[in-house]
Amino acid sequence: MSNNIESILTETRVFEPSAAIKQQAGINADKLAAMYAKAEQDHVGFWADLAKEKLSWHKPFTQALDDSKAPLYRWFSDGELNVSYNCIDRHLDTKSDKLAIIFEGDKGDVHHYTYQELHDEVCRFANTLKTQGIKQGDRVIIYMPMIPQAVIAMQACARVGAIHSVVFGGFSAEALKDRVENAAAKMIITTDGGLRGGKAIPLKGAVDQALAKGCDSVKKVIVYQRTKQDVPMQAGRDIWWHEAEAGMSNYHDPVMLPADHPLFLLYTSGSTGTPKGVQHGSGGYLLNAMLTNEWMFDLNDQDVFWCTADVGWITGHSYVAYGPLAMGATIVMFEGVPTYPDAGRFWQVCQDHGVTVFYTAPTAIRALMKFGKDIPAQYDLSKLRILGTVGEPINPEAWMWYHEVIGRGECPIIDTWWQTETGAHMIAPFPGVTPLKPGSCTRPLPGIDAIVVDEEGNEIGNNSGGYLVVRKPWPSMLQTVWGDDQRYIDTYYAKFNNKYYVVGDSAHKDADGYIWILGRIDDVLNVSGHRLGTMEIESALVAHPKVAEAAVVGKPHDVKGESVFAFVVLNTDLPAGAERDAMVNELRNWVAQEIGPIAKPDDIRFGTNLPKTRSGKIMRRLLRTIAKGEEITQDTSTLEDPSILKQLQQA
Ligand code: WT7
Repeated sequence: MSNNIESILTETRVFEPSAAIKQQAGINADKLAAMYAKAEQDHVGFWADLAKEKLSWHKPFTQALDDSKAPLYRWFSDGELNVSYNCIDRHLDTKSDKLAIIFEGDKGDVHHYTYQELHDEVCRFANTLKTQGIKQGDRVIIYMPMIPQAVIAMQACARVGAIHSVVFGGFSAEALKDRVENAAAKMIITTDGGLRGGKAIPLKGAVDQALAKGCDSVKKVIVYQRTKQDVPMQAGRDIWWHEAEAGMSNYHDPVMLPADHPLFLLYTSGSTGTPKGVQHGSGGYLLNAMLTNEWMFDLNDQDVFWCTADVGWITGHSYVAYGPLAMGATIVMFEGVPTYPDAGRFWQVCQDHGVTVFYTAPTAIRALMKFGKDIPAQYDLSKLRILGTVGEPINPEAWMWYHEVIGRGECPIIDTWWQTETGAHMIAPFPGVTPLKPGSCTRPLPGIDAIVVDEEGNEIGNNSGGYLVVRKPWPSMLQTVWGDDQRYIDTYYAKFNNKYYVVGDSAHKDADGYIWILGRIDDVLNVSGHRLGTMEIESALVAHPKVAEAAVVGKPHDVKGESVFAFVVLNTDLPAGAERDAMVNELRNWVAQEIGPIAKPDDIRFGTNLPKTRSGKIMRRLLRTIAKGEEITQDTSTLEDPSILKQLQQA
């Protein structure tokens, strides 16, 4: 057990909502009880009523859930709407001058967009997409830094019915190429570069590298000028955003689409080698993305909401680009990093823009905690009223620091459990109602039938643990894995005979029925809240000409949650001394180049073999023990060559 799990399972503190938040919150205890009762009584009707109430429909749906091809579910399919219309146009009558986006760049440059301005930008870019040959259903890759143009590009795709796939700017050319090819994308939207911590990051360069190696489906590359660094432009293929957009109209009639039309693909790691394209629909996705901004963050017209996630992750989709805009809220977008120019940057941004609701990851909190409480104390954080967290279990120490030092002991900590596949929050507290326990994401939301089951699939009682699963479908669930329905079924439904959506996490239910997430049950690592498949990193390593075999495990890390630990067998002699250090460096850079810097192993150990059973299965639990530097107490009698353990421990 990791230290974190131990401290989570011995946590007993309970924090009731303050009188102030109880009074202010839009959802109070009575409303919440009524929602649970309604959802319990009529699951599909509960979601159907909310969809009618919260979204603007061009054509109303007549059937809320189509389960004729279960477990491939479709929501609101015969209704028609446009997601961008719901995020922008419908607010213009009453909120055209309200700020939609407050942007702060890495260097401190600030730019504001009202809803009217956002509308005009999105329309101009939607017209540009059409002019450049993009049609409904085409896939468009967005490979951009955290700047408003990324959201504008996403919204413009939604407007014309193109399916976007945002690829995180930190991914390498190789990872970009895999995603472009899997999606058979027709266009890439990128920038010359991005700014992070004072450094210019080349993005167009990676696009060129990816295109040089394949990606034949790509016909056009649109390049937004951000850093003004020199980039080569290939005639006929590459075009500057500002040139493509010249003369485009501020008006674009959004295409009304079936509610189950795919809105986007987002590639995420699983337990097999290649990342899968998680496909999300339109109406169902937007409903939950919007509602959870209302329920968990209580967003209202006075709020300034800052979610620090990059748009390259699902959090940046549901809590930056779509959900809060569907609510008509004001969001902050920030291009930089939390520690540049110093560790006060997040708190400076909160102060300068009057942030009221702040949403970040435990890894960021732990990193900033290390700099001490004097740094946040230099900033006026008095406007903050709700603090959120996502990405991994938050350790009670970080929870308390967040609550006391950042939240003055007054702001509730909203620990939101969800996944790329779920589209929106699934298990989380309501700020004005739910008593909080540091480290627990509390209870499933109304209409989310998440339960914990044992190996046989039977629901377990309180005070025990098992697999977290979801019984009934919900509107923002993934539609499928892009182009591979069978992989969708195998990955998410096969384990319990298509009865449950299997999350891949294990969880503990305490005496009050509160859920405590313990971590992944599959070969997936969670490094700084980012999902990495061990197989994915292993494939990258064995692609190196000197590597014969590799096994990757996670090692508990006090800031990142987990770090990547690789065991490698070379097809040369066991390296030693300076030669070994050089090989370690070479392999770390190799992985960064194959996947991206986030996948770089922190540790690499060389051996002449890996610990395998006689049937050839690598015993990863032994590798995990070695990675932690702990004594091996497990049974090693089935090992083919037990002496290998000593070698790996000493290396
Ligand atoms: C996995 C999903 C959802 C956006 C960020 C990550 C872990 C996520 C929590 C939380 C404990 C959490 C789970 C989950 N996770 N949020 N509040 N408490 N664990 O999205 O890359 O799809 O990863 O992140 O293990 O399965 P993702």
